[in-house]
Amino acid sequence: MKFTYYGHACFAIEVAGKHLLFDPFITGNPLVKGFDINTIKADYILQSHGHGDHIADLIPIAKNTGATVIGVAEVIGWVMKQGHDKVHPMNYGAFDFEFGNVRMVPAAHSSGLPDGSYGGNPGGFVITTAEGVFYYSGDTCLSMEMQLIPRYAAGLKFAILPVGGNYTMNPDDALIATEFIKCDKVVGVHFNTWPPITIDEVHAKRIFEAAGKELILPEIGQTIEL
Ligand code: NI
Ligand code: MN
Repeated sequence: MKFTYYGHACFAIEVAGKHLLFDPFITGNPLVKGFDINTIKADYILQSHGHGDHIADLIPIAKNTGATVIGVAEVIGWVMKQGHDKVHPMNYGAFDFEFGNVRMVPAAHSSGLPDGSYGGNPGGFVITTAEGVFYYSGDTCLSMEMQLIPRYAAGLKFAILPVGGNYTMNPDDALIATEFIKCDKVVGVHFNTWPPITIDEVHAKRIFEAAGKELILPEIGQTIEL
């Protein structure tokens, strides 16, 4: 699977010939300069929750690409109100899409939409495809709920976890999460965008290495085969 990082918690996964985009927030990212969001390809956009630092560029990208937006029902209701009706509302549960099975799982966080309306519950996604299984936790603290993930889908190939702290897990928490989810390869996101989530990358990588695990801290714009 091909992973491309667009900064903060926005990334794309290419799997089964489809482009899956997650949590589109690019133009407001102080670390991103002069990127044209119209160049992004997306067949599906998976939305973990309604916070601005995850959803700010959703509507223009969804309209431009004609992508199907997947998320919790309340977020999808807001998307439809913005004039995009190619959507798939869900809640904590699983559904088979053409590229694989998507299970929306709980995230211990909050949610709300840019207009102040109710955003429903925040979530993460366990995605099972013919090319392997991966987990994107969305914004969350370390949670005992994560221990259920290997019961849903054993043998995660990799996990995409927030590591910036303050609003979410920090690298030490994410390392504990790897035990809960039984996965040794983590791509860290949601770090360094603003001062409260600036991390010590050397420390973060060292604690993972010491535990025999891998922490990838991608550069914005980088594409990695996972
Ligand atoms: Ni959030
Ligand atoms: Mn966030």
